[in-house]
Amino acid sequence: MHNFTFCTPTKVIFGRDIEGSIGETLRGYGATKALLHYGGGSVKRSGLLDKVKASLEAAGLAYVEMGGVEPNPKLSLIRKGIELCRAEGVDFLLAVGGGSVIDSAKAIGVGLANGCDPWDFIESKTAPSKCMAVGVVLTLAAAGSEMSNSDVMTNDENQLKRGITSEAVRPVVAFLNPENTFTVSKFQTGCGIVDTMMHTLERYFTGDGDCDLTERLAEGLLIAVRDAGRAAIADPADYEARATLMWASSLSHNDITGCGKNRKFPVHKIEHDLSGVHDNIAHGAGLSVLFPAWADYMLELGHDVMKFAQLANRVWGVEMNFDHPEVTARGGIRAMRAYFREIGMPVTLQELGLTPDDYEEIVSKTVLGGTVLKSYIPLGREEILAIYRHAE
Ligand code: NZQ
Ligand code: ZN
Repeated sequence: MHNFTFCTPTKVIFGRDIEGSIGETLRGYGATKALLHYGGGSVKRSGLLDKVKASLEAAGLAYVEMGGVEPNPKLSLIRKGIELCRAEGVDFLLAVGGGSVIDSAKAIGVGLANGCDPWDFIESKTAPSKCMAVGVVLTLAAAGSEMSNSDVMTNDENQLKRGITSEAVRPVVAFLNPENTFTVSKFQTGCGIVDTMMHTLERYFTGDGDCDLTERLAEGLLIAVRDAGRAAIADPADYEARATLMWASSLSHNDITGCGKNRKFPVHKIEHDLSGVHDNIAHGAGLSVLFPAWADYMLELGHDVMKFAQLANRVWGVEMNFDHPEVTARGGIRAMRAYFREIGMPVTLQELGLTPDDYEEIVSKTVLGGTVLKSYIPLGREEILAIYRHAE
């Protein structure tokens, strides 16, 4: 187990009927005027936005609204948000939505607190030390941004999708009511199941040797998500299933399933360019195609066979073949792909509408400036193209 620092400062308020407490809670953080930030309209249709407004008004808290955040949130809207908040004297950012809305709010907060453009931090490869306070009313269990130290945005001038990693961007409070996810479509539910699994799986396969407690926490989370995922796809209003998925989304990306391991996240970095260049591709759908392909490739090269076999056995129920653990390991990847298919997710690039002619443009973004991704082996252009071929 490597040395680690674990600090997860987000206050979580979880369960039914919690919206009434939003206004008072924000007041407790010293808020006087909030930005109410949301996406393309699902929170209006569900009535959630009205409940949030009523709570702010009851607490005497002023607010301004800015909707229109698109999936894979765009820098252009973030810049408009920064201008609006400056003009209006906003001192608290309340994201009502999924990962895209939260990340848009975080980027606005970075811009406001540091008096600069948030993209500057991506260009200079530095981490901001400050961010205006962000609160979250979560509507989609997926990205884990409600507790994470990441903020991912797409620069719509050059289609580069990049992230800031900084402790400063962890939200101060997250309101998690599983009922607010009942209206999520089957496809977005599937994307969320995959993304939640991936945040733990990317922390699981790091080549750091054994880390028993952390790995067993990870496996427990994956098993719970596997089963709750099936239940929520079958019945979108299954409260217990939605509750498990929502809490797992937060725990999977607040670092608890990675303590003692080195964070690398190669598949996420490859996927971000896929959904950066092809804006119609959802992050979770890109991951359900790319992660099994990355795993196939790593196994083909003989990396961490016992760890892949351990996951196959403990999470996917594949019988352990002690003489040939690579057989067990491969069985695990097959079972994972079958599960993704079962919950309606794509597992090939073809299903995402991509052909080999598309690969070069996407991969050129990933390796821009000579970037090589960390994984079991350094991943440069040729290795990433090999992963794409495993995903055909
Ligand atoms: O825009 P609206 O109308 O709200 O519709 C959204 C959107 O179309 C819809 N939706 C959300 N809640 C709903 C709902 N529809 C019905 N009922 C509800 N309750 O779902 C669609 C997708 O929303 P989005 O926020 O884009 O999804 P997600 O939460 O998966 O976030 C994806 C973004 O987060 C980034 C991804 O790269 C992507 O840009 N990530 C952020 C991370 C972080 N900051 O820690 C980590 C992740 O690995 C990820 O990279
Ligand atoms: Zn993710």
